[in-house]
Parts: sequence; structure tokens; C-alpha cells
Amino acid sequence: MKALVYHGPGQKAWEEIPDPTIQAPTDVIIQVDTTTICGSDLHILKGDVPTVEPGRVLGHEAVGTITEIGDAVTTLAVGDRVIVSCIKSCGKCSFCKKGIYSHCLGDEGASGMGWVFGHLINGTQAEYLRVPYAENSVYKVPAGVPDSHAIMLSDILPTGFEIGVLNGQVKPGDIVAIVGAGPVGLAAIMTASLQGAARVIALDLDANRRAEAHKFGATHDVDPAASDWKEQVFALTDGLGVDVAIEAVGIPQTFDSCVKMVRPGGNIANVGVHGKPVELPVQDLWIHNINISLGLVNTNTLSMLLNLVAEKKLPVDKLATHYFKLSQMMDAYDTFSRAAETKALKVVITRD
Ligand SMILES: NC(=O)c1ccc[n+]([C@@H]2O[C@H](COP(=O)([O-])OP(=O)(O)OC[C@H]3O[C@@H](n4cnc5c(N)ncnc54)[C@H](O)[C@@H]3O)[C@@H](O)[C@H]2O)c1
Ligand SMILES: [Zn+2]
Ligand SMILES: [Zn+2]
Repeated sequence: MKALVYHGPGQKAWEEIPDPTIQAPTDVIIQVDTTTICGSDLHILKGDVPTVEPGRVLGHEAVGTITEIGDAVTTLAVGDRVIVSCIKSCGKCSFCKKGIYSHCLGDEGASGMGWVFGHLINGTQAEYLRVPYAENSVYKVPAGVPDSHAIMLSDILPTGFEIGVLNGQVKPGDIVAIVGAGPVGLAAIMTASLQGAARVIALDLDANRRAEAHKFGATHDVDPAASDWKEQVFALTDGLGVDVAIEAVGIPQTFDSCVKMVRPGGNIANVGVHGKPVELPVQDLWIHNINISLGLVNTNTLSMLLNLVAEKKLPVDKLATHYFKLSQMMDAYDTFSRAAETKALKVVITRD
């Protein structure tokens, strides 16, 4: 089969590799019908995630059709159309039993690390994919939900909601600022309304993404490059700062923006994948009663979000901006990595 193989920082190729095979009785093999590219894939290619070894197939988002099932799989069948969660879940370990799939102790990839696809085992940017612990790691797609909507549930919708909105403890009436209006930030913007956010302020250097944010529920936007950006944000509050600041970029500067915007007693929810240390001014924050949360998505809200997507309660249709075939994977990367020029949000890559 063909797959997108990582060959070290800055190097990747769409090349022929052996087809995946069932390795454990709890595995399934899927034919990848639709996949996409995540900001995290770009971080890997920048060298920010050194645990990814050269030779790895990248990608952790997929919708596909089951072509083979392991002997222990009883609730899935060949032909089922499924969403693959970006996080493995053995369903048996103490973390899985608490819904903390991000730290699943199953030994696929590494015990204690839930994000294995395109990280510690081969990922979804390929014609076929082996899914370990399949019964707990895939979700059947209801009829009527197209792949281009379902694919947003593998990672970005649960990430924005769980690590941004839920970890940030967004409550009815809150003023929420989201730094970074990429797909993950937009997912946080569109799910902040589920928790009753009153004002939702999008900050992004890219004017197109600031404009797009309004289609997903942002009520205001601020250009973080403006010299008075902080005053602009404070003017949208009662002068005290935002209740919740969500970081969805992954660089020290944007975490710092969150520190500067949050009001006393407020929450900072970090979603971005960081490759460099961030300085934390604990000496200032402690006296302001600031809560800070960090996290890797669990996807334990995937079913709930899928119900909302199936009922068309979330504007996921607006996320897909560019369509490619698997054989055009290198072009898809080029378009996604130049989002400011191409105006790409999510690229949808389907089987040839
Ligand atoms: N915690 C998790 O479980 C998890 C899961 C998935 C993705 N992520 C991370 O979430 C982050 C966002 O993902 P994405 O796919 O939306 O990425 P993306 O690269 O598409 O979007 C990032 C956005 O940040 C903007 N930006 C860059 N510098 C900025 C600055 N100084 N101020 C304001 N905006 C700035 C960019 O214009 C872009 O729109 C990434 O770091 C990704 O790795 C985390
Ligand atoms: Zn991702
Ligand atoms: Zn587990």
C-alpha cells in the first residue's frame, strides 16, 4: 500500500510500504476512506515530537471501512464504517475505566501513552490502517453523517471541547478568549456554546482565520499583533479580563497572552502542543487564584459530540476547505502548511 512516511525533521514521502496485518485478536484492519492533517503532524515534521521515529506513517485521524477483524472482535464486522479515535483505548486498564484514555496502559505503542497513531505506531495517512483495541477505539458512523463531518471527530472536536472548553471550566455567561483559530481553536470556539459561553473572542495573527471564527460562534475577534491587543480584549470584558483563556497554538508567546488576559479566579486551558519550555510567572499568578490546565485529549466525549454532529447541531461542515485524494498527500501537506496563503482550515483527503 501507499502511505505518508516520516523520515526525520522536515522529511516525508508518499511511498510504498507493506500492508498492515492483524497482530492481536483485538485488532481490526480498516481501509482508510478519509483522513486529514493535524497541526500536530506539522509539529512532528518540525522536530517538536522526538518520540516519532523515522519510518513512521503519520496521521491520527481517519474514517474507514473495516476489511478484516481479529478473532476476539465481536461487536464490529467487515464492512462497518467507523471513525478511528486518535487515542487508543484498551478498555480494561485503570485509566481507561476512568475515561482517561490518553494514558491507556495497554502496551500498544507504549504503556501509559494513548496517542499512538502516527506517533508510536503507524498512522492513518495511508491506504490501510491496523487499529489495536478496536472495539474501544472506533465508533460506528451513523447513516447520514458524511466522512467530511465524521473526520472532525477523530481529534479536533474532542480536543477543542475536552482540553479547551471542559478543562477551562467554561460556564454559562462566561467570557472566553481562544488564542489560535486553527481547526482546534475553531473546535473550541464552536463547542464553547455548549457550556453556555456568552462572549467568545478569537485571537489569531491570520485575518482570514479571525474572520472564519465568526462562522463557528466567535462573537468578537482581536488581532494579537496590534500593540493594544490586550486593551482591546479587556474592553470586551468588564475591564477585569476573560473568565477562560484557551491556548490553541503551542508557543510560549501565546501561553503568555493567556496569562495576560485571564481575570483573577479565571482558568487558562492549554491545548497547544509545545516544543519549547514556557516561562510560568508563578510569582504573579498565585495571588490571582488562576487555574491552569494542560492535557492530551481523551476522546471520551466522542460519542456525545457525534450525536450533536449527526443532528447538525455543530457547524462542522464549515471546517473542510480543501479536498484531495490520498495520492495527492504531498499536495495536501503543502496546502495545509501554507494555511495563511491557501486559507485552508481542514484538508479532507479521500481514497483514490
Ligand atoms: N492537547 C491535545 O490533545 C492536542 C490535540 C490536537 C492538537 N493539538 C495542538 O493544538 C494546536 C492547534 O492545532 P491546529 O490543528 O488548530 O493548528 P494550526 O497550526 O492549524 O493552528 C494554529 C493557529 O495559530 C495561529 N497563530 C500562530 N501564531 C500565533 C500567535 N502568536 N498568536 C495568535 N495566533 C497565532 C495560526 O495563524 C493558526 O491559525 C497545535 O499545537 C496542535 O498540535 C493538541
Ligand atoms: Zn491532532
Ligand atoms: Zn487502557
